[in-house]
Amino acid sequence: MSYICHFLFLTPVFLYHVIDKDDSPKVNTKSKVKKRIVVSTVLSTGILFIGLCLVLYVWKKKQQKNIMLTGKMTGNFQRRSNNKDLKEGLELPFFNMDELACATNNFSVSNKVGEGGFGPVYKGTLTDGREIAVKRLSKNSRQGLDEFKNEVKHIVKLQHRNLVRLLGCCIERDETMLVYEFLPNKSLDFFIFDETQSLLLDWPKRYNIISGIARGLLYLHQDSRLRIIHRDLKTSNILLDFEMNPKISDFGLARSFGENETEANTNKVAGTYGYISPEYANHGLYSLKSDVFSYGVLVLEIVSGNRNRGFCHPDHRLNLIGHAWILFKQGRPRELAAESKVKTPYLSEVLRSIHVGLLCVQENPENGPNMSYVVLMLGNEDELPQPKQPGFFTERDLVEASCSSSQSKPPSANGCSISVLEAR
Ligand SMILES: *[C@@H]1O[C@H](CO)[C@@H](O)[C@H](O)[C@H]1NC(C)=O
Ligand SMILES: *[C@@H]1O[C@H](CO)[C@@H](O)[C@H](O)[C@H]1NC(C)=O
Ligand SMILES: *[C@@H]1O[C@H](CO)[C@@H](O)[C@H](O)[C@H]1NC(C)=O
Ligand SMILES: *[C@@H]1O[C@H](CO)[C@@H](O)[C@H](O)[C@H]1NC(C)=O
Repeated sequence: MSYICHFLFLTPVFLYHVIDKDDSPKVNTKSKVKKRIVVSTVLSTGILFIGLCLVLYVWKKKQQKNIMLTGKMTGNFQRRSNNKDLKEGLELPFFNMDELACATNNFSVSNKVGEGGFGPVYKGTLTDGREIAVKRLSKNSRQGLDEFKNEVKHIVKLQHRNLVRLLGCCIERDETMLVYEFLPNKSLDFFIFDETQSLLLDWPKRYNIISGIARGLLYLHQDSRLRIIHRDLKTSNILLDFEMNPKISDFGLARSFGENETEANTNKVAGTYGYISPEYANHGLYSLKSDVFSYGVLVLEIVSGNRNRGFCHPDHRLNLIGHAWILFKQGRPRELAAESKVKTPYLSEVLRSIHVGLLCVQENPENGPNMSYVVLMLGNEDELPQPKQPGFFTERDLVEASCSSSQSKPPSANGCSISVLEAR
C-alpha cells in the first residue's frame, strides 16, 4: 500500500524534471504555457492520487480492525455452540483435555493416586475447586468410540449412594479419560489390612460397609436397567467417603473395556487372584454369580482383617476361604472375627456375616444366593441355609505363593494386581 503511494507521489516530480530539461533550450511562451498545463495537470493528478491513497489506507486500516474484532467474536461464538452441540448430543458432561491436564498438573506422578485395571488414576482439582479423580484409560481397547460414549452415557446416569459417581469423560487426541468424584478416605484395603488403620473400623462401621457393598451390587445387578457385572470386585475397588460409607468403583467399565461378553464364555480371564470364582477361572464363564463369589471373599476379608490371597496359618495350607470354612464346620466361626483384633458385642451380626460370606463362595455358583437375597439375609434375623463346600479354598497352592517365604508381605500387597490367565 505505502509503496504504491510513494510511487504515485514521486511520478509527477520526476515527469516535471524531464519535461523541464527537454524544453529549456527553446524559450517559447506557447510551449511554456503548454508545459505549465502539463505540469499542473500531472501535479494535481498526483495530489488527487495521494489523497485517494490516504483515504484508501485509512479505510483499509479501519476495516482490518473490524475484521479482527468480529473474527474474535465469531470464533468464540462458534466454539461455544460447538461445545453445546457435543454436550447435547451426548447428554454427558464433557471435559476437555487442557482442563484435565491443568487440574492434574499435567498428569504428574505426584498426582497419581492409584492404578486400576483400566489405567492409572490421578487426583485433580478443577478451577472451581471441585476435587476429581481422573482415570486415564489404557489405549488397548478394541472398542469403538461411539460404543464407548454410549456406555459412558448410560453409566453416568447410574446413581446410588454406594457407587462412586461418574462426572463425565474426555475423548480427545487419542486419549480416553473418565472423571469421577474424588473420595478422600482411600480404599478399603488401606484400612482393614493395616494394623493401626484397622482400629478405625469398629464393627458397626464394618457392618455398614458389608451391607453398603451388598446394596450397591444389588443396584448394579438388578435395579439399574443395565444389569452390570462388575467383574473385578475387591477391597481396593471399594472406596470410602468421609463417613466411611463404601462406594464401589470401576463398575460398568467391564462392559465397555472388558472382553466381548457379559455372561458368556471368554477367551481370557481378567480379574484378581483371590477374588475370581472357580467357574470363571476354570471355564471363563462369567455371570452375576461371579460377582457374588467376589463379594463373599470381601465379606470374609472385612470380618477377619486378612487377605484371602496370601493368607497364612500355621495349622494348614488353606487360604482364608478354607480357613473360614474349617472354623465354621468346627463350630468356631467367631475365631475368624477375633483375628481382626476387633472386640465385639455384636456377635450375632459377625456370625451372620461370616455365614453369608460362606454362602456366597460356594463352589457351585448355582447354590450361591443372588444379591437381593444377600441384602435380605443381612437385614433380618431369619435362619440361614447351610453353606456347601466353598470353591478355591486351596487356591494358594494352585496359583503360587509359598507363604513361608513371604510371611511378612502378602504377594498382592498393593491390591491392584490385574492378572490375566488363559482359560482352558
Ligand atoms: C504440560 O505439558 C505441556 C507439554 O507436554 C507443556 O507445554 C505445558 O507447559 C505443561 N504444563 C504444566 C502446567 O506443566
Ligand atoms: C475421612 O475423611 C474425613 C474428611 O476428609 C476426615 O475428617 C476423616 O478423618 C477421614 N477418616 C479417616 C479414617 O481417614
Ligand atoms: C465380539 O464377538 C463377535 C462375534 O462373536 C466378533 O466378531 C467380534 O470381533 C468380537 N469383538 C471383540 C471386541 O472381541
Ligand atoms: C433371588 O433369590 C431368591 C431366593 O433364592 C429368589 O426367590 C428370587 O427370585 C431371586 N431373584 C432374582 C431376581 O433372581
